[in-house]
Amino acid sequence: MKFVITAGPTREPIDPVRFLSNRSSGKMGYAIAAAAIEANHEVLLISGPVNLAAPAGARLVSVITSDEMCAAVQEAVLDCDVLVMCAAVSDYKPARVAEQKIKKRDERFSLELIPACDILKSLPPSRNFFVVGFAAETNDVEEHARAKLATKNCDMMVANDLSDPNIGMESDENAVAIFSRSGESEEISRASKKIVARALVKKIRANAKKVLTKKF
Ligand code: CTP
Repeated sequence: MKFVITAGPTREPIDPVRFLSNRSSGKMGYAIAAAAIEANHEVLLISGPVNLAAPAGARLVSVITSDEMCAAVQEAVLDCDVLVMCAAVSDYKPARVAEQKIKKRDERFSLELIPACDILKSLPPSRNFFVVGFAAETNDVEEHARAKLATKNCDMMVANDLSDPNIGMESDENAVAIFSRSGESEEISRASKKIVARALVKKIRANAKKVLTKKF
């Protein structure tokens, strides 16, 4: 199968030297890319700025902003079987990017933010590829993940519980709960991201095969 996998954070510029971003390390997305290659899938990895080497065999598209990631995904899904949206895409971006460095002044400063492109929501509702979203939650994980599965029109939602500092963002380990559109759910208990990624790729492949019956 042809996998398109997004990973890492995006950066939203404020001025030539500053940006808004988040703590995503890209480790989970890169581990999924490596696991998909190991399972003989074709992989296009669309990555925000991270300190990781792309797994051998993956085609890498490097992006910085949410707009760049959005454009890269929209082009890549024209020819793919599975989209895994593991990237921590910014929800907001500055309304204006200052051309010159913003000077410090001895007064309050507010930054006006506008919604960034929601990549999952920008995808066509009727399509011939399988879509996996990630839900990063600090509370009411199942409720929020199931809601995102529906509102973001995904086939599968992988939920991360961010309230546990030992797993998820920046960590080498993860534990996830998977919710499918069919109503099924499954947990992958705490393990290295490499092990979790292998289990996820297996599950994604099996479910994608069921949904994409005409293709496989
Ligand atoms: N996502 C996206 N475009 C965005 C933000 C997120 O496509 N601008 C995708 C992520 O890659 C992930 C899913 O949406 O697969 C859920 O991301 P998450 O950050 O958990 O949810 P948000 O939609 O940002 O909602 P909230 O921050 O309110 O939890």
